[in-house]
This record gives sequence, C-alpha cells and structure tokens, in this order.
Amino acid sequence: AVVGEVLPHESADLHVTGHALYTDDLVHRTRDVLHAHPVQAPHTHARVAAIRHDAALSVPGVVRVLTGDDVPGVNDAGVKHDEPLFPDEVMFHGHAVCWVLGETLEAARLGAAAVEVEYEPLPAVVGVRDAIAQGSFQGGHPSVARGDVEASLAGAAHVFSGETEMAGQEHFYLETQCALAHVDEAGQVFVQSSTQHPSETQEVVAHVLGRASHAVTVQCLRMGGGFGGKEMQPHGFAAVAALGAVLTGRPVRVRLTRQQDMTMTGKRHGVLAQWRAGFDDEGHLLALDATLTSDGGWSLDLSEPVLARALCHVDNAYWIPDVRLHGRIARTHQASSTAFRGFGGPQGMLVVEDVLGRCAPALGLDPAELRRRNFYAEGQETPYGQPVRHPDRLAAAWEQLAASAGLDERRAEIASYNREHEHTKRALAVTPAKFGISFNFTAFNQAGALVHVYKDGSVLVNHGGTEMGQGLHTKMLQVAATALGVPLARVRLAPTRTDKVPNTSATAASSSADLNGAAVKHACEQIRARLVEVDGGRGLAWEELVRQAYFARVQLWAAGFYRTEGLRWDVALMRGHPFKYFAYGVAAAEVEVDGFTGAHRTRRVDIVHDVGDSLSPLVDLGQIEGGFVQGAGWLTLEDLRWDDSDGAGRGRLLTHAASTYKLPSFSELPEEMHVSLLEHAHEDGAVYGSKAVGEPPLMLAFAVREALRAAAAAFGPDGAGVALAAPATPEAVYWAIEAARAGR
Ligand code: MTE
Ligand code: MOS
Repeated sequence: AVVGEVLPHESADLHVTGHALYTDDLVHRTRDVLHAHPVQAPHTHARVAAIRHDAALSVPGVVRVLTGDDVPGVNDAGVKHDEPLFPDEVMFHGHAVCWVLGETLEAARLGAAAVEVEYEPLPAVVGVRDAIAQGSFQGGHPSVARGDVEASLAGAAHVFSGETEMAGQEHFYLETQCALAHVDEAGQVFVQSSTQHPSETQEVVAHVLGRASHAVTVQCLRMGGGFGGKEMQPHGFAAVAALGAVLTGRPVRVRLTRQQDMTMTGKRHGVLAQWRAGFDDEGHLLALDATLTSDGGWSLDLSEPVLARALCHVDNAYWIPDVRLHGRIARTHQASSTAFRGFGGPQGMLVVEDVLGRCAPALGLDPAELRRRNFYAEGQETPYGQPVRHPDRLAAAWEQLAASAGLDERRAEIASYNREHEHTKRALAVTPAKFGISFNFTAFNQAGALVHVYKDGSVLVNHGGTEMGQGLHTKMLQVAATALGVPLARVRLAPTRTDKVPNTSATAASSSADLNGAAVKHACEQIRARLVEVDGGRGLAWEELVRQAYFARVQLWAAGFYRTEGLRWDVALMRGHPFKYFAYGVAAAEVEVDGFTGAHRTRRVDIVHDVGDSLSPLVDLGQIEGGFVQGAGWLTLEDLRWDDSDGAGRGRLLTHAASTYKLPSFSELPEEMHVSLLEHAHEDGAVYGSKAVGEPPLMLAFAVREALRAAAAAFGPDGAGVALAAPATPEAVYWAIEAARAGR
C-alpha cells in the first residue's frame, strides 16, 4: 500500500531548489501587471476626514487610486461585516485607508506617499488590560460550565488563585500575503491568492465586486506557510487586487512587504486569564474557575470560534469535576487577531498548565506527578459534555516516553548537576497535550473532491484543501493511489480551485487530511467499483482496464464527498460532541538556565505523539518537529511589543521586522530531539486509521516553559514555586530567577 509509506513531501525537491512557484512568482508570467501599494494610517485610532489624491495621480506611473467610492458591491472584507475594506475610521496604526495602483511597485509606493489624508485622531484602546478598564469588548461572552464551582472551592483542601497572561504571536510565514487578479477571456474574475480558504476568499471578492460567486474563481497553487494567518486575512488583499483588475482591465498584484504584513495583518490572540483552582490533599483538581479575556483587535474576524476552542481546551488532559470558564473578547485598536496554529487551544491549555506548574510545589508534588494524577479516565466527560475516548493512549504515551527518554536517571543527573553548579541550573519537565479534532462549528466538517481517470490511465486529483507546506497534497496523492490501486507516479494533483470543488471549508483545524482524504477516497472508490465490474475477475492491468472501460462507456471520473458523522455542537450552550476524536501527545524537555542573564538553551526534547496509523510518516514527523518548534518560539522567544507610552506613537507595533521580533532559528533548536509515533494507535472511522497532526504538536512546547520554570525555581530554596511570564524570554526567566532567590 502507498498509504503509510515513508515519502518526502511532494514538492520537497522544488522547495529546496527554489523552483516551487508561489503566487507572486506568477507575476513574471503575466503581462501588463499593475502593482498595488497601501496608504497606511499613521494613527492608532482616527477619523478619516478627507482623502485627496490629485498629487498621487500626477506621480509618473501611477494609474489609479482605489478608495471606498470605487466599490461596486459591499465595502467589507470580513464575514462579520465589521471590517470595511476602505475604512472611514482608522482602527489601528498602519490600517490601509486606500490603495494606489502603479505601473511599477515603486511608482505605486511613491503615489501612496503623495496621497494626502486628513485624520482626526481619536483616543485608543491599547492592550487587553486597557480594554478591560474601559469596558471595550466585542462579540459574545460564552461560558462552559459543569457542577458547582463555589461549593467545590469552599470544600477544597487547597485553593489557589492567580493570573496567567500570555502574548500573541506573529505568523511569520515566509511568503507574505499575496494576490494576483485578472478578468479572463470569459469575463470571469480570476484571483490567484495565497489563501487557506479559497471559497471564502471567493465569497468576499464576489461581495466586494457585487457579483455572484460563479463569476469569481479563486485558485491557490501553494502557500509559503499559512499557520492560520491565511484563513481570513487574505480576503481583503484579494478583493483589492480583484477590484483593481475590474476597474482597470489589467491584472493587479498585491504583495505585502514584511513590514506591511506585520503591521497590517492579525496575529495570535494574546490572552489574560484570571483563575481560582481547588485541589484535594492528594493533588486532585476539584474545581477551576477562570475568566479568559482575549485581545481581539479591532474587528471580530475569527475571535469567537478561537475563544470557543480556547474554552474547550482549558481542561487539556485533565478531569476537573467542577468547572466554570468564562470568555470575552476585548476590542482594541490593533490589527485584528486571528487564527494561529491551535486556534485558541494553546491559549486555553496554557491556563491549566500554568495552574499546575505553579501549584505543584505548594502541594508538595512533583509537577509531572501532579499532571499524571489528574489525567482523564475512560468514560469521563470534558466540561462541554463530550466523553473522552482513549485516554489510555495518553497514559501509554506517557509511559513510553518515561522509558525511552530515561527520565528517572536524568532527573538524578540534573539534581546532582544543580548541587554542583551555583550559577547555572538545569531542569526537566513533562507535559501532555489532548487536542480536539474537527471544527467546533459542525457545518464546516465537510469536504469534496474531483477525481479524473484519463484514457491513458493517468489520474488527476482535485480536492478542497490547500497546500501550505503541511504535506496535505502528499497525503492526498497517497490516498488516491491506494484507493485506486495504482502506483503513486500515475497520480497528479492539480492546484486548489473554487471552480473544481465548490463550497469548501478552510484548510484548518488540522482536519484537512481527514476531510479531503475521505472525499478523495470516496471518489476513487466509486471509480474503482465501476472498474471492478468491467474487469469481471480477469485481472487486467490498470491501463488495459481503463481502456476497456472507456470503450464500454463507463464513467471514468467521480466527485467525492464526505461529512463527519456524529458531531453536535450547541454554540449558545457551549455543549455537545464537537470533536470526532482527540489527538494525544506528550513531551519531555530539559533546559539549562544562566543565573546571571536568564539566557537558556534546550538541551534535549523527547516526544511521543499519536497520529493514529500515519498516512505519511515523514510528513507527520515534520509536522511534529515544526509544530513543537513554533510553539517553543511562542512560549520562549517571540515577543510582540506595542508602543504603550502616552506619546503620539501609542499603539504602534514596535516589533515589525525580523530584527526586532526574535524567531526560533537553528541555534534555538533543541540540541537533541527524539520524536516517535505512538504505537498501536489505529483510529477507527478515520481515513485509513490516521489522525490529524497539523496543530497538536505545537502544544507539546509547554514542556519547555515548564522546564524553564523549574530551572528558575532551582535558584531559590528547595521546593519553592515560581511564576513565569509567557513568553519566557531570557528577560522573563531572569525575573523569575530573581523572584525565586528572594523566596517569592
Ligand atoms: N505546516 C506548515 N509547514 N505550514 C503551515 O502553514 N499550518 C498549520 C499546520 N501545519 C501549517 C503547517 C495549521 S495552523 C493547520 S490548521 C494545519 O497545518 C492545516 O493543515 P491540515 O489540516 O492539512 O493539517
Ligand atoms: Mo489552523 S490555526 O486551524 O489554520
């Protein structure tokens, strides 16, 4: 079988030789392209009193200035209708108020600089604490609750309370947002877009243009990374390109510079959580009461579903009998926060991991033991009412890791190292992750595919998912080859297009291989069944079989469809059975911390992760390693800063380039890293027994932060706990060390 084989990513050769084409590369194959440049507001909050563009039009090479007056349809780039494409109120520093089209990017840039915009500055809300103080919120205020938290806390042997604040995260996909649009020979608007959600990009473009969806086609060849940042954010840029193309009759390209991308597009939601937790004498969690306030930025975007996923993941791997989880979304004058790998899950899970990491010393328990003691048992339900299936796999992964990583011996080594070293300390932490697979919103759990078998026996596959480096296309090729029973080389995958497979869901929630894989399989199985009849037990070779089927007038192509059965979700009650299954993983991280500076390094990481029966082990390994490192970046390095002074720049993003925003690089990778896949993990009812892998491993990086906490605490008296910021940058670790030394 081809499924489960160790294969490189289908475009690996192209990636590493630089021959893989991305949306912006297509510009060089297109004639008469106009380039678009935004006019970005130098205010964090302001009214746009007037836009004068005569001076811009006299700049050589400037062709047109696009403003709200040019929009034939709806002036909105979102799905919540709170995101004007051409705003008359500036909602964040760098907000684009209009766009200039030029013969060259330079002409467009100079034109944009010549546009005169009159602003009337308004007071701004900067940061989630500011929003809470001013009562600035948007969207719903959901709650997940079970049992009687107050009674449970009142009866608990140990009650703790605290705040956990975590930062957002810049996606920093290598390919910035990009769209290239033209009106084709049939009068159709054709948009090439770096988008995880072609169908929604199509919908927004159609709304802005005032056309029907059948008059707009969106194609995504591949993305140079999306990470959730191209789930909603591409729509507006695609709409600007499409609008320009319709108005000028020429192809229009929008491609953001890194700084534009960092200042204009949304990031991971930062979250402030306030909590109270109750434990019994053995360290069993009895009750958790928490309020999570996420920083939504200026518009809703995906903030509500992100918050729902956060609330559905506060439990992580732990049974908590009495729970009350509140959520709210701050409205602030910042770029609109959006999806980012984990989609709120990481933020929710970090709350309980922070609670356990901080409370363990006070409970007199090793944090790993405290975590293990609170694992779900089969039959127990999540706070939103879904039974947790296969929690024994988490326990199995935990035991497999303890043995393969030699945790007991290494703990002893670390203890003796720490006794001998006054100025550097080491520590090891183990953390679990349980992540729900499926979109919370039931309707999104559907997918389509279109499979053609040509007369020569070659196969062309279309499906609704997009490729962003995660290896989805590789898996889909393997599924098609397996389901048809042909060698991989007979199968080719076509770029994702809305005119091939309509009404698709975003390539997101890690579900794309599950959903599109099942749809591809469904299409292939229909073809296969017809061919089996033609064959009639003769055992013909594939090519001959296909030839005979054609002459017998048998349909050699099929549309496939899949919807995940058994899902229920009540958005208002925040209850139901939203996930098909849970993905599990455990990680152990060992770190070393310098007591003078807080500088740290990750000496070793061990991971056991559950991907079911892997569709493509090498791809899955890459997802686990990449997800883990991205999570470690979020939790230990990446530090978004906005100007929070009272000066004119208040609210401006200060970390808007690679020079000021520190990403993980080779030097921050774990010095030693061992990843293994959980054995005997077949998942019934999923495509070839496989499990989703895209997001869950990011949350294994909690182990690094917990190890840093323990290492910082090791500078203080034995058994003392310590609070640690997220991200645990060297600076933050230094302050934790100082607190540990002072016995706080
Ligand atoms: N891996 C790479 N290389 N690049 C990406 O942009 N996005 C992640 C994850 N892995 C991403 C990635 C996110 S946010 C999701 S939801 C999943 O891939 C989406 O793809 P899947 O559904 O095929 O797993
Ligand atoms: Mo991923 S955050 O669901 O695109």
